[in-house]
Amino acid sequence: MVVVAILAAGRGTRMKSNLPKVLHTLGGRSLVERVIESVKPLAPSRQMAIVGYQAESVEAALKHVSNLEFVLQTEQLGTGHAIQQLLPHLEGYTGDLLVLNGDVPLLRTETLKQLLQVHQENQNAATILTAQLPDPKGYGRVFCNGENIVQQIVEDKDCTAAQKQNRRINAGVYCFRWTDLALCLPHLGTNNAQKEYYLTDAVTQVSPVMSVDVEDYQEILGINDRLQLANAYDILQQRIKEKWMAAGITLIDPNSITIDETVELQPDVIIEPSSHLRGKTVIKTGSRIGPGSLIENSYIGENATVMYSVITDSTINAGTKVGPYAHLRGHAEVGANCRIGNFVELKNTKMGEYSNVAHLSYLGDTTAGTKVNIGAGTITANYDGVKKHPTKIGDRTKTGSNSVLVAPLNLGNDVYIAAGSTITEDVSDNCLVIARSRQVIKEGWKLDKK
Ligand code: UD1
Ligand code: CA
Repeated sequence: MVVVAILAAGRGTRMKSNLPKVLHTLGGRSLVERVIESVKPLAPSRQMAIVGYQAESVEAALKHVSNLEFVLQTEQLGTGHAIQQLLPHLEGYTGDLLVLNGDVPLLRTETLKQLLQVHQENQNAATILTAQLPDPKGYGRVFCNGENIVQQIVEDKDCTAAQKQNRRINAGVYCFRWTDLALCLPHLGTNNAQKEYYLTDAVTQVSPVMSVDVEDYQEILGINDRLQLANAYDILQQRIKEKWMAAGITLIDPNSITIDETVELQPDVIIEPSSHLRGKTVIKTGSRIGPGSLIENSYIGENATVMYSVITDSTINAGTKVGPYAHLRGHAEVGANCRIGNFVELKNTKMGEYSNVAHLSYLGDTTAGTKVNIGAGTITANYDGVKKHPTKIGDRTKTGSNSVLVAPLNLGNDVYIAAGSTITEDVSDNCLVIARSRQVIKEGWKLDKK
């Protein structure tokens, strides 16, 4: 049985931010959410987040996590003090407590499982996750004997020059036999450089304590400042891209591409340079994205192409070509085999299959049928200054260049709109509509003037 505690009460002074450190985001999710994600598969019997600095905003950001309890640490007097706050909540508990710093966002669940396994097999009082870092600066140094039994943990700020040479560091992830920890928690002192209650002091007051070195040290990097946040982002991107390339996705110039962890791709998708895939985006097989596209929370069907375009909260069905320079947003939904071309904006607009909006158009709050052709420069005037109004366009209807469709408006099936028309009244099926003044030619006008 394991209870999880996540330390999320600190301000994170080194971030130089008003936002609590643990709420800074990494690839679309906050640091603390990532930590919570990493413990989820362990199915802890209880999980508690220790909150303090801007507790309300941290709680609000985590309210969607089921079965997460919040424990308030009113003053942030150190990591040991944070864990002291659990004493009244865990009275009588005899299982293990897994403690994680809220700023270790790249941890893998596998690593936590290993830690728990070593802890339980050896019946340790505590087992801590450690790593050998090329640059251990800033971390607590862990001193062990030959059998990986921990003898001392010294914070960077408390280290002598000689102790700083030790490259084995404390990852900030611990498993404790709770009854042992509970006994020594009340006796922690603050005799250290930061005048804080250190959880690391409790570690050396129980016994035996074993350390487990993580295989890939990148997993345990803690985020204290913006540079470390940026480095963690690079590592995360590397992981995500390697995973997708292994799954059959082509990334052209991967360093110029970013992909959120929440994105789903199918084999034989090609992502071209300078493209960014965010949120809950899904891209189906055979599609080609980019160069230069941003796709957020959108669905792209099979064999579609999107070039130099921005698509948010929208759906593009199979075989449709988008761009260059198109902008789809507000739940645009484009059917299969359509073409959405240069300088076209679609907002909250549905297009049936085999329809084209190829050049210089804005369609807002529009529902168009199949095989529709929207001529260059067609604009829906969907906003009267107060309210938005809908436009309906029937199957096979064609608008001439530079048409203005003043909403609310219904155009039937097989309607033809003459170029340059401003349409203000509904049109029924099979009509040709011309809504512009006739051309007037005054012959010899120039000569008369003279
Ligand atoms: C801590 C460890 C250090 C380890 C490093 C790993 C201690 C004393 N030191 O140092 O050995 O190498 O993590 O990244 O534990 N927090 C609270 N309440 C507080 C203080 C902090 O909840 O009163 C939370 C913070 O929000 C953060 C976590 O605890 O999520 C760690 O605090 P931080 O100040 O970043 O500790 P480090 O100095 O990095
Ligand atoms: Ca830290």
